Amino acid sequence: MLVHAIPANINYEFAADVRAGLTREHQKELPSKYLYDDVGSALFEVISHLPEYGLTRADERLLRRHSREIVDRVKGPVAVAELGSGSGRKTRWLLEAFCRRQRTSYYPVEISHSALVMCERELSDIDAISIVGFEREYLEGLLEVAAYRKSGEHLLVLFLGSTIGNFDRMAGLKFLSGVRRILKPGDSLLLGTDLEKSSSELIRAYDDELGVTAAFNLNLLARINRELAADFDLAQFKHVARINDEARSVEMHLRSKRPQKVHIRAAQVVVEFGQDETIWTESSHKYSLDDVCEMARTAGFRCEVQWMDEQWPFAENLLVAV
Ligand code: TRP
Repeated sequence: MLVHAIPANINYEFAADVRAGLTREHQKELPSKYLYDDVGSALFEVISHLPEYGLTRADERLLRRHSREIVDRVKGPVAVAELGSGSGRKTRWLLEAFCRRQRTSYYPVEISHSALVMCERELSDIDAISIVGFEREYLEGLLEVAAYRKSGEHLLVLFLGSTIGNFDRMAGLKFLSGVRRILKPGDSLLLGTDLEKSSSELIRAYDDELGVTAAFNLNLLARINRELAADFDLAQFKHVARINDEARSVEMHLRSKRPQKVHIRAAQVVVEFGQDETIWTESSHKYSLDDVCEMARTAGFRCEVQWMDEQWPFAENLLVAV
């Protein structure tokens, strides 16, 4: 097996997080933000085109269909901050609509360098736009954006694609409260939320036939091999999507096919896996329309409008800071 040399520039935070997550006593886990290196971001882009995964296209349809109405409800001049911009493709309609009204600043906040570059390139042709990207975690980036805001400018925060669902419900509420604290009354948050749907639809969406989602999940182990000089044998792990009825979520795991030991040299740890033991990598919580409004109100927002897609249960929620 190929064992990578310890790279010169170890990301010590990554090493520490991997070590902490894989030495947990009960459920081993890895933070989902590490899924999005260059390879992971590219694979997620492919997932968003899969017929089984309608989420991103529903998000895009709603933004396209209602961009005029969203613009009319957010009085300008406007600074648009997007938390986790990805490629920026689905934001185009909204930004074009804002820029038709007046010059608009766009601040994508994104931890993936390649996604940020792609997004800036994708949207730079829009007339009357000025783009400044922040390679930062969400709230850290949003704080900086807020400091950039010119007087009289409204801030509209976009948190699309149902990334909120990747927090558990309590953490989701905390996160929205954190966003609210950075905003001023009258600022807005456009929040995308994936809605509840049948278990079979969910399993198909998170364990597609082609195996792209499996590759996306397994890439996390490949990344640990690359960046932390580990010796995960990817063939000995299987991607699993399972429904958690109580949490109303889909959980993503990587299951060890047999008892095995993995050396993660740059994290100075040897991890033992039992047969069928899993690493939990991500959960995707599903919401009802009422859940969203209740969470928004608790976080200090008014629930202004909810738009629902007709083909895939998904909602765009316009929340106004009170
Ligand atoms: N935010 C996406 C979602 O919850 C992320 C995602 C899609 C994902 N498929 C995945 C994360 C598979 C881990 C594994 O829908």
